Amino acid sequence: MAFSMLSGAKHLALTCRDIAPKDFGFVCLDFNGVSASLPRMAIVPHRRNSRVAKTLVPKCSVSASRPASQPRFIQHKKEAFWFYRFLSLIYDHVINPGHWTEDMRDEALEPAELNDRRLLVVDVGGGTGFTTLGIIKHVDPKNVTILDQSPHQLEKARQKKELKECKIIEGDAEDLPFPTDYADRYVSAGSIEYWPDPQRGIGEAYRVLKLGGKACLIGPVYPTHPVSRFFADAWMLFPKEEEYIEWFTKAGFKDVQLKRIGPKWYRGVRRHGLIMGCSVTGVKPASGDSPLKLGPKAEDVKKPVDPLKFLTRLILGALAATYYVLVPIYMWIKDKIVPKGMPI
Ligand SMILES: C[S@@+](CC[C@H](N)C(=O)[O-])C[C@H]1O[C@@H](n2cnc3c(N)ncnc32)[C@H](O)[C@@H]1O
Repeated sequence: MAFSMLSGAKHLALTCRDIAPKDFGFVCLDFNGVSASLPRMAIVPHRRNSRVAKTLVPKCSVSASRPASQPRFIQHKKEAFWFYRFLSLIYDHVINPGHWTEDMRDEALEPAELNDRRLLVVDVGGGTGFTTLGIIKHVDPKNVTILDQSPHQLEKARQKKELKECKIIEGDAEDLPFPTDYADRYVSAGSIEYWPDPQRGIGEAYRVLKLGGKACLIGPVYPTHPVSRFFADAWMLFPKEEEYIEWFTKAGFKDVQLKRIGPKWYRGVRRHGLIMGCSVTGVKPASGDSPLKLGPKAEDVKKPVDPLKFLTRLILGALAATYYVLVPIYMWIKDKIVPKGMPI
């Protein structure tokens, strides 16, 4: 069944057989107030104004990714810094078109409910400002702050005239330089995969939001194809959908929802994983810090590193990343060759 190729989640495949094929590409999983280890999922076909929902209990994920506590080659702050030192040169023109298109971005931002131009928004790991360009369609640029740890990425954002009124600052997603209860919306797209401690980053999202504020985190999803899994595990963090839900729920968020996204020419295929594969949202139900208390940071960037080890990690991580430059091209060719309506 086509859906099993799309989702990689066996149980979802079984339950979603009743849903019409045109609904396969995007689903929304709703995990309201239910234990993260056994979330209730309401599958909502991604058709505007459609509320055809199914409730199901997932047994488990199809594949076990490496635990978040064992970071991959580039899932480190220093490695990510140097990775983006070079990637920033081609990011907007070579990397984004294969993984993160304007229509995907707009779909992914929809659940953030950017419904008032006066909203105060932080775009964390905002990089070159590609997602910020989607945010400022709905929100006054003066109210938007782009934060990133890479000055090279931010320099590209500074060069975009549409973003000239946004605040642009360097900072760490796991230790945000914003006061508690500060923003109406927290957006982060394509950054979590580099955070050594994603739970801490999501806890920070919770802290900086005002009561009733909404976080929208867009990120990768883990592949089920063994070759893709190998390269994903070598490169960076590709969380499973249930990991996102668990992190959001543990951080204290309510009304946690997950919407699947992907490039159009993938025809909903998810087995190779996706660099931008889902948009997860949650609402802050009480003011103040996250109820989840964490120990000291996992990674101290001030600590000296062994230069040889560091360089090896960077090179191996970058080589693994190259595989993911090729996957969208391969899928694009398949989309062109295989007749429309057939699974690819
Ligand atoms: C794939 S880019 C996404 C950029 C942008 N959000 C977009 O949608 O195009 C990932 C960004 O996350 C940033 N990043 C990685 N780790 C970070 C951290 N710990 N704190 C802040 N930014 C981080 C990188 O520097 C990079 O600019």
